[in-house]
Amino acid sequence: MPTQNQKTPVLIEEPKGKLGVLLVGLGAVSTTFIAGVEAIKRGIAEPIGSLTQMGTIRLGKRTDNRVPLIRDFIPLAGLNDLVFGAWDIFEEDAYEAAIHAGVLERDLVNQLKPELQAVKPMKAVFDQQYVKRLNGTHVKQGANKMELAEQLMEDIQTFKRVNECDRLVMVWCASTEIFKQSGEEHEDIGAFERAMRNNSPAIAPSMIYAYAALRSDVPFANGAPNLTVDVPALTKLAVDRGLPVCGKDFKTGQTLMKTMIAPGLKARLIGLHGWFSTNILGNRDGEVLDDPESFKTKEESKLSVLEYILQPEVYPTLYKDFSHIVRINYYPPRGDNKEGWDNIDIFGWLGYPMQIKIDFLCRDSILAAPIVLDLALFMDLAKRAGMRGVQEWLSFYFKSPMTAPGLYPEHDLFIQLMKLKNTLRHMKGEELITHLGLEYYD
Ligand SMILES: NC(=O)c1ccc[n+]([C@@H]2O[C@H](COP(=O)([O-])OP(=O)(O)OC[C@H]3O[C@@H](n4cnc5c(N)ncnc54)[C@H](O)[C@@H]3O)[C@@H](O)[C@H]2O)c1
Repeated sequence: MPTQNQKTPVLIEEPKGKLGVLLVGLGAVSTTFIAGVEAIKRGIAEPIGSLTQMGTIRLGKRTDNRVPLIRDFIPLAGLNDLVFGAWDIFEEDAYEAAIHAGVLERDLVNQLKPELQAVKPMKAVFDQQYVKRLNGTHVKQGANKMELAEQLMEDIQTFKRVNECDRLVMVWCASTEIFKQSGEEHEDIGAFERAMRNNSPAIAPSMIYAYAALRSDVPFANGAPNLTVDVPALTKLAVDRGLPVCGKDFKTGQTLMKTMIAPGLKARLIGLHGWFSTNILGNRDGEVLDDPESFKTKEESKLSVLEYILQPEVYPTLYKDFSHIVRINYYPPRGDNKEGWDNIDIFGWLGYPMQIKIDFLCRDSILAAPIVLDLALFMDLAKRAGMRGVQEWLSFYFKSPMTAPGLYPEHDLFIQLMKLKNTLRHMKGEELITHLGLEYYD
């Protein structure tokens, strides 16, 4: 029932027709995502971990008992309307790539063979300078980076036409590139396009995909820690073209745990001497991250989380100079089944020390796949709702959320979830939930 605080809803176009999900990289995360959606469509699996499929949203007062599923509350594309496309530097189709990735049981992958075989990767834009440990052959050739972008734009148009898609979204699920900082080539679109034509090393392959997406009216989400769309030239292009963008780096595994536990420690004013995190993993992502330059990109993304949540400048007694170390060790026998250890040295009343130890036996791609699904659906929603530029409300899904210039990112998972749900309430003209609750005691 509408309340007096209800606002005018945002105008949202209905999701008619098919939504094409274009995945850059057809590796462990992408194939686990596609296979999962196909299995759910066939009714042989549940969409566990997906907020868009299983999450609910409270509306109005606690006494109103209005708690619909998010997908019944807001107009999202249905799973039966999704079509998948991908680029990769290897020719393997999604069936072969899923077998290669070894995340899902062979039995399940075999059951889904026809659907997976239908996803054949397009030739990639790739340069080994940016991902040292990979060497692929299924790669586009072009005189300069602008030409490569034009080839991607052609791929996008062809995919849309052949698959009769109404709308598209692109999600970067390819390998982590080497560490890059934003420079003068990324300042505005003129400089960016000049740098593309001059084959400047400042333009990474991931930026060429993001540029091609935005030029083709396709929202872009970045699942890796690379800079990619997080540069002024491309965020401005997104705003100008009325397109949403978001990133960076899917929040799974150890960082997910960190952003659950650190807010709890801070809430109870428990101090921190140090947090040591180490991982072993043996998938291709682990192999790529074994290269120090790719790891540097990942490290930057993982390290910033605690500083922002704990705010040492606001709480110097509790958090000044805590030590924070993150290691990733490539250990082939583990495959995708990562193990992450955290040793957390904390202190309480009168400074007495305590420790927390976490041993998380996680499955990276199992945690990442529902994020890809949610981002594809929410980015499509954002575009239909006229939301453009950086989508901070999707920070919930990222280790290193993109924000407006000068704004620090919000890392606390629970604040991120509240922000996401309040954004959905706002879009539908529902009252925002502040949890004040005084009205129950009037
Ligand atoms: N939980 C997670 O798995 C998780 C969490 C956060 C971020 N990520 C990031 O997501 C990305 C994918 O992870 P993954 O486990 O699927 O890795 P993966 O190595 O299995 O797959 C990546 C694929 O991208 C392809 N690729 C590399 N460069 C490309 C390019 N320029 N164009 C097209 N394809 C390209 C590779 O050939 C590979 O098949 C990585 O960057 C990873 O760091 C993963």
